Amino acid sequence: MYSPRFVFVVLAILSFTIVPYFQKCHAEIQVNELSFKPSSSFSIALEALQKQIGYTFQSNGLLRRAMTHASFSEENNRALGVLGAIVIETSAALRFLGKDIEMSGKNLNERISEISKVESSCMMDGMRLGLQKVVRVSPKTNSSTPAVVCGAFRAIFGAIAIDAGKSDDAGNIFWSVHSVDAGGVLVL
Ligand SMILES: *[C@@H]1O[C@H](CO)[C@@H](O)[C@H](O)[C@H]1NC(C)=O
Repeated sequence: MYSPRFVFVVLAILSFTIVPYFQKCHAEIQVNELSFKPSSSFSIALEALQKQIGYTFQSNGLLRRAMTHASFSEENNRALGVLGAIVIETSAALRFLGKDIEMSGKNLNERISEISKVESSCMMDGMRLGLQKVVRVSPKTNSSTPAVVCGAFRAIFGAIAIDAGKSDDAGNIFWSVHSVDAGGVLVL
């Protein structure tokens, strides 16, 4: 039999070496779980947004970026917003001119700018999707301003175009969320 003294020494060694080792492993696992936490409110909002617009991203990072204002991070939606605006305008030009090839250039330009106007159309579309509640901004930034909401709205279509590798899907989804009376768009 081992003496009680021997058992005590073995237990002491165990508690000073092995136990802290396992505690450390456990702590590391917890940190990893936190950084990849799938159920943060932002992730949940992104999931809901994909359902609202009827498009599932292959690359979730693109939608994250689209919903990130420049005040929040270097990795932001500015460039996606530029692409998105072009996608919307191209799609609008195609649709209007496709319906009426006799339309004048001036008239076409007016119709296009109506569709993408920041204060009215673009911001309303973004608000209807509840983007002001999703987009990440710095604490000092008001996420309900037209520029922020509209930038995020446009960035969605830039992100879809990049995700799909073409602008067709993005254009189609724009029309499905833009039409006020479509009735199929849920509000968060
Ligand atoms: C944020 O901006 C919106 C739209 O411009 C405005 O109505 C609202 O009062 C602003 N909120 C704050 C806290 O400044």
